[in-house]
Amino acid sequence: MTPMGTNLAELDGTAGPAMLAYFEARAKGGCGLIMPEICKVNEKTGVGMFRQLAATSDRHIPSLARLASTVHKYGSKIFIQLHHPGREGVSTLIGGQPCVSASDRMCNVSKQETRPMTLDEIHELVEQFGDAALRCKKAGIDGVELHCAHGYLLQQFLSPYTNKRTDEYGGSFENRMRLVLEIIEDIRKKCGKDYVLGCRVSVDEFLNTIGVTEEYIHIQDGIRIVKTMEAAGIDFVDVSCALYETCLMAVETFSVPVVTLSVCHIKDPTFADNYYETILGIYCTYKGQLGMYPISLLLGGQGAEMATQLGRDNSAIPKKLDAEFVIRKNGTKVEVGVVRRGAQIVKIEMELGSYNHPLTHVLFQAPAPGKKTAGSGYYFHFDRLPDENGVWRFTNTCLIRNIVNYTYDAWTPGYITKLEINSSKDDPWGCIPVQTIVGGAYAENNLLITALQKLEDVDADKLMKKILPAWYDKTTFMETGRK
Ligand SMILES: Cc1cc2nc3c(=O)[nH]c(=O)nc-3n(C[C@H](O)[C@H](O)[C@H](O)COP(=O)(O)O)c2cc1C
Repeated sequence: MTPMGTNLAELDGTAGPAMLAYFEARAKGGCGLIMPEICKVNEKTGVGMFRQLAATSDRHIPSLARLASTVHKYGSKIFIQLHHPGREGVSTLIGGQPCVSASDRMCNVSKQETRPMTLDEIHELVEQFGDAALRCKKAGIDGVELHCAHGYLLQQFLSPYTNKRTDEYGGSFENRMRLVLEIIEDIRKKCGKDYVLGCRVSVDEFLNTIGVTEEYIHIQDGIRIVKTMEAAGIDFVDVSCALYETCLMAVETFSVPVVTLSVCHIKDPTFADNYYETILGIYCTYKGQLGMYPISLLLGGQGAEMATQLGRDNSAIPKKLDAEFVIRKNGTKVEVGVVRRGAQIVKIEMELGSYNHPLTHVLFQAPAPGKKTAGSGYYFHFDRLPDENGVWRFTNTCLIRNIVNYTYDAWTPGYITKLEINSSKDDPWGCIPVQTIVGGAYAENNLLITALQKLEDVDADKLMKKILPAWYDKTTFMETGRK
């Protein structure tokens, strides 16, 4: 079974019940060899899609082992496809930073800003492919495949069309082969010569079909590449062709919404007493502006009412009072629960020590106890009023930004091991698909809003369709839903 992205992995890149059931059915149906899908080897720049299988950490070994034993029960074999998208990724999936590639040549289909990898990044990536392969081996996976096809990163190094480097990883055929050969060598060193290793290769890029006259991989180059890989000791070749620019498919660039949740204990806020808040937001680009666009905010604790009236976000997003927060710390384990009107809306379990995603620290501006940072939040301000016929319509809708100073009393990175968001009649959060977890923290901070700017007027009717397509609910606009 050819590898196909299923989007069935859990948020942390593990294979959970949905993915296991999917591949179990294929194995039961008689499939001899299953290659699940592109699998992450690098969390920083190597994300290929939402809910993607990962082998980036030892935490993923038990999950890969579950996949292996699930299909082995039926006599099937399983190979994991190790992958990095390079310039065919989506910047929003990697925190808004440019995609990386051999050079700065942008893909004309995905159209993401692209920068060349540094030598340090290349060397680190070689190790990451090798480490991921070793995790697969330890998990009982039967073999691995390097994704050197479809225009992804390894092909970007192999092809003279995308590789314009002038160092030892670009220029001559030997130099363009270097990255893949180093990865093969590293995998052999870590997994041994008997571990099954192959490459999926685009043996022709067919760039003539879109009028390209520069050098690219023609079939004779493809054969040379494959023979060189064979000489380096791979066991099989999985022949494919093309890159995004010559694939017969319509891939649209889109701004990917990633729903995130944060829980904070705000100590001594300038405008109120201590209070707790939970923000559910969509992390996305809006007109090129990457940011967190909150869609709901629950407030609880002493100063909650004051915070609602005075600050935080100046009425821009619906605030729901009366939330009860329980934050329990036991050694390195932290449990967080948020209940509102008797309904358990949020349940989180976190293991202190590291984040789920290395970018988290950058996103939070590297906080630490005693550190002061400044940040801004983007909020859509909505007013809704009845028109002359009594029909409720949006008025005065705009995008605003507030500038906030934070001072941290405590900050310990957390790895989210469990996240449940449930819906109640009043809080329809559970319907929103959480797409990724970057990590959390055991934190206490205070905040001061220093400025509020109106950025632009927006058309709320159009915007709503984008940000909350199916989940927009009248309770978002402060109506209780209890009628
Ligand atoms: C939804 C979808 C996801 C895919 N994901 C991957 C992938 O993760 N890795 C890969 O090498 N190819 C991927 N492919 C390409 C397939 O492996 C296969 O080469 C392609 O579908 C052509 O084969 P077919 O004509 O039998 O569909 C994907 C194809 C589809 C339709």
